[in-house]
Amino acid sequence: MISGCTVRGCLNQLCLETLMEVQRCVGREYLPASFRRDWATTHAFATAIAEDPNRSEITREMGRVLSAATYFLGNVAAGTQPNYYEYMDGQMLDWYLAPDSEDTDSLVQRGVVGVHALLKELRRFESHSLKGWVGHNLDDLDREQVQVRIALIDDVLEKTQQLGAKDVDDPVSLGDPLESFAVSRSRVSALIHLSGVPLTQGHDEVLFVRVLQASELCFLGIRVTVSMAIRAIISDSPWLAVQKLQMATRFASLLRDLLRVLRTMPVAHFATFRTLTGKASALQSVGFHLMDTLLHGLNTEKLEHFRRIEHFKPVLAFCDKGFVSLKQAMLSTDERRPRWREVWDVCRRLDKDLLTWRGLHLGFAKRYIPQGAPGTGGTTGANYLLQHLFRGIFDDHQPDWEAVHEMFPEVAWLDHARETRSVLIVPSG
Ligand code: HEM
Repeated sequence: MISGCTVRGCLNQLCLETLMEVQRCVGREYLPASFRRDWATTHAFATAIAEDPNRSEITREMGRVLSAATYFLGNVAAGTQPNYYEYMDGQMLDWYLAPDSEDTDSLVQRGVVGVHALLKELRRFESHSLKGWVGHNLDDLDREQVQVRIALIDDVLEKTQQLGAKDVDDPVSLGDPLESFAVSRSRVSALIHLSGVPLTQGHDEVLFVRVLQASELCFLGIRVTVSMAIRAIISDSPWLAVQKLQMATRFASLLRDLLRVLRTMPVAHFATFRTLTGKASALQSVGFHLMDTLLHGLNTEKLEHFRRIEHFKPVLAFCDKGFVSLKQAMLSTDERRPRWREVWDVCRRLDKDLLTWRGLHLGFAKRYIPQGAPGTGGTTGANYLLQHLFRGIFDDHQPDWEAVHEMFPEVAWLDHARETRSVLIVPSG
């Protein structure tokens, strides 16, 4: 058996620059067989070290971060398609969040810092691409759109800074040994340098992957803050509930901003990599469905999908006997009493913001996917999203149609409004 010290030295000698640069310069879909094979072996080694209780904590941490960084290579065989988490390096997001997984306030803050770091890295990639300093992902570089994108990213960065994310320079680079990534307290270095590799050389696929990653952190931020708000409501602390729900609305607002940034991707660019993401629909996002369920209870119309996808078991288990959704918690309070009024106001705002996010997201499905085409998650695509558009907390809410229309002026919307006048007494056949 190799001693802990030797393993550590051996891990530190790995060339992380090669690991990432080859993937970035070739695209994960087109990697040479020998590269895949070698790093798949490294992945198995790293995973074994991470799980070995006889190793020192630092060696195990190095194993964990390396296992996350090589997860795709160790699990997606050539010629097969990644699932959602493999596609967007979800394992690295989990490693990034791990230190604060038990402390909800710190977890929320880590979410904000993560969104900030991902967007800052995206901004660096975009501006360096314009300057000609990046040697990969140059296919379909639309300079004009990228300039608009950078301005929109700056708006998001300003918001994340207002939420407490500090704009510090990243001290670790790919030339550093693995240990530097493993011991970093902030963990953002691994998040930005060792994750987020697209399948192709398409410029905008980098944007797409980073937006998925940042959105996942927002789903988590909403889930955690809403669950704290529910606890506050149940324990009769309206002021605390307001505080937590306000934080949830900030994450919801970031989600909308992320879609605004993504909208700078021309439709034709998405088409160049969409087919390769064949099995990687965000429908598989358990974080989204947990968030959605926590807000208003289990959506039984989605049971077919929850049962079909193995990792959705937590969504069903989540709704055990003790489960209380935000909607249920709100209904246990009296909106007319002044002490609860602000809770209701902020809850309405959150519901509306998320409904608008769903409206914008539906806009993406309508604009970016050929009409009538199914989704990559085995649903009816845009029609599935339309079917669930109005599933929120309040029945009378409408999305902010102006915002939706501004982003998708060409898409006809009014037919999707919660229109009830077509039914008088008897439902139409
Ligand atoms: C070009 C951009 C996008 C398009 C065309 C698109 C399209 C779709 C479609 C058609 C579905 C239906 C499920 C299926 O795949 O069969 C879906 C589901 C979903 N997408 Fe997207 N999407 C886009 C961007 C995003 C982004 C950036 C996120 C952020 C994580 C996201 C999150 C989700 C989620 C959470 C679902 C499941 C929704 C539910 O079950 O109600 N999507 N998307």
